[in-house]
Amino acid sequence: MPDAVRELYSDRRYPALSHPDAHPGVLAATARISGVPSPPLPESCRILDIGCGSGHHLLPLAERFPESTFHGIDFSDTAIRTARRHADAAGLKNISFEHADLAEWDPGDSSFDYVLAHGMLSSVGDETKAALLKLIQQSLAPDGVACISYHTLPGWSLRQEVAAMVKALPELGSDASAILKTLAESARDGGTPYTAHLASICESMHAKGGELLAFDELAPVCDPLHFGQVIQWTGQQQLRYLGEATLPGNLPPGLDPGALAKLQPLASDPVRFQQTLDLLSGRTERTSLFCHASLALDTETTTSVVLHFSARLAIHPLPMKTVHGEILELFHAALTAAWPSTRPVTELMEECASRLGPRWDPARGAKTIADWLYQAARLGWVELRTDAIQADPKSTARPRLSPLNLEFARSRTALVDGFHRSCGFPDSHWQIAAALDGSRSVAEVTALARDHAPDLDVEPWLRHLASRGLLVD
Ligand SMILES: C[S@@+](CC[C@H](N)C(=O)[O-])C[C@H]1O[C@@H](n2cnc3c(N)ncnc32)[C@H](O)[C@@H]1O
Repeated sequence: MPDAVRELYSDRRYPALSHPDAHPGVLAATARISGVPSPPLPESCRILDIGCGSGHHLLPLAERFPESTFHGIDFSDTAIRTARRHADAAGLKNISFEHADLAEWDPGDSSFDYVLAHGMLSSVGDETKAALLKLIQQSLAPDGVACISYHTLPGWSLRQEVAAMVKALPELGSDASAILKTLAESARDGGTPYTAHLASICESMHAKGGELLAFDELAPVCDPLHFGQVIQWTGQQQLRYLGEATLPGNLPPGLDPGALAKLQPLASDPVRFQQTLDLLSGRTERTSLFCHASLALDTETTTSVVLHFSARLAIHPLPMKTVHGEILELFHAALTAAWPSTRPVTELMEECASRLGPRWDPARGAKTIADWLYQAARLGWVELRTDAIQADPKSTARPRLSPLNLEFARSRTALVDGFHRSCGFPDSHWQIAAALDGSRSVAEVTALARDHAPDLDVEPWLRHLASRGLLVD
């Protein structure tokens, strides 16, 4: 079976993906909340990405944080060559890529503040899983944080059945997409909760597209895992579970608050609690954080820790009914005005203080804001991270992408925005994106689009790119 995995990645090109939840600015904030005393900041850290593919997650980090160092390993020669080509074209000196099998790679004396294994655990055979977890343990710095994502059971189980049927029913369509469409349409007509659920799974698999499905549900190894199993394996490597990469990940959506209250008897057993949440929510993915079991965690962490971070509304506009009292109304207004940028909480708080003047009580104000912000982040209303992201929706006079995004645009590979989300374009728009090198005025870009992409409304498009932090000064 492992050879089948190797064949898959040497025969086909894995899609270029970046993962916002595995950004070190997000990981540092969540790790600090989880009690890691001083998680390394993205501005000065060492990151290892195991199974880095063509480096799409790591490269934009290397460009954004020039004082940090990045290393990616992957056994796909094509992926590593592509990653190196992008790094060279963008002039990145703080990143390296190595062609290696993780089961044989020796980190030597190197250790890393963040070790990432995204999309790996569920896509390799059992021996490689064991080697992966051992490598994470060996390469993680004493106060480092590992980020491991995987497909979860029981939520993923019906997908496994659908994937098996897609492989077994070629009569239903010319390819996987066509078969999924047929299954989705047949299920949708059923009118029961089961058929609605099945239809939604078939539709979401269909929406992934054949390219990604081949590496995911339809891959030779697609091994969803129970959370408890992962905790057992990582525990054998002396790794301690910290929580999910983002705070809302610990309380998946779709659960009634009353259901959580009924789970109170499980509060002292976090693994069984989380396993039960997985059953109730039907979640299909986890991105879990770990540290060395020997690391002494700060057990005194309070909500005030969020005052050291940057914040941004995840829901914009966030309804006013979520805040009560003058301080929170002002804070809400400051967050709303800052959107889509992420701003340091201290700056937002200073704005509240200056609006309130002598009525601002620093201790009470900070506590009120910290308590609300913490809850708002848990509920997914606000995103927290350690780095601030400037995303001004106004386009510049001579729009310019960063050197790396320009290289991505020229090679028709998804751009990566300021929040680490991928950004692709319809065929005819790539050429216009590749022209955003700062040498053209907005009028010149508009003229170019008139000839090559007449459907593109350039000014709103540029504002959209700017609001995603894609245009640089
Ligand atoms: C599912 S993809 C994930 C890519 C990337 N981490 C992401 O999340 O977008 C798995 C990656 O791991 C690599 N891989 C699988 N088994 C490996 C092994 N034994 N050693 C090194 N790389 C491996 C594949 O080549 C592929 O790039």
